[in-house]
Amino acid sequence: MMKALVVYATITGNNEDVADIITDALENLDVEVEETEMTMADPADFEDVDICVICPYTYDEGALPEEGLDFYDDLQDEQLDGKVYGVAGSGDTFYGDNFCVAVDKFGEALATAGASKGSENVHVNLAPDEDDIKKLDAFAKQLVEKAGQANE
Ligand SMILES: Cc1cc2nc3c(=O)[nH]c(=O)nc-3n(C[C@H](O)[C@H](O)[C@H](O)COP(=O)(O)O)c2cc1C
Repeated sequence: MMKALVVYATITGNNEDVADIITDALENLDVEVEETEMTMADPADFEDVDICVICPYTYDEGALPEEGLDFYDDLQDEQLDGKVYGVAGSGDTFYGDNFCVAVDKFGEALATAGASKGSENVHVNLAPDEDDIKKLDAFAKQLVEKAGQANE
């Protein structure tokens, strides 16, 4: 059975909602999923799964989640070759060029660790709506397809 780890960082719950939607979508595709808040996760946990997902909020002018800085630093030193990754998260378009910057930064960190990008990054404005749920369902499907190819 294919396995995934979904790690999220949240203050007001939007990124937990994004993580929940992805987790449900992956489970519906028969993936065994663990969903964990970032301070409770270790980047080494990604070594045990096929699909690595991170859902971070963005703060003050494109800043990473404060409580996720150690996770972010350690992530770059991981060896995640052969893993498929996807990043998705909620920010606020009010912040213009800094919209969802943390999502893209975590994507770069996963690529640095050697994981392969399985889907385009998904940027959600505030709480996920119906349209976002469709995008996140498609995101999950692409990750599973890519991970299936990697295991052939
Ligand atoms: C002080 C402050 C700064 C913020 N800065 C950004 C930002 O630079 N970029 C962005 O996309 N969103 C920014 N946001 C918006 C949050 O990322 C957005 O509300 C998000 O949905 C919060 O996710 P959460 O509910 O998981 O905590 C900021 C919010 C606050 C309160």
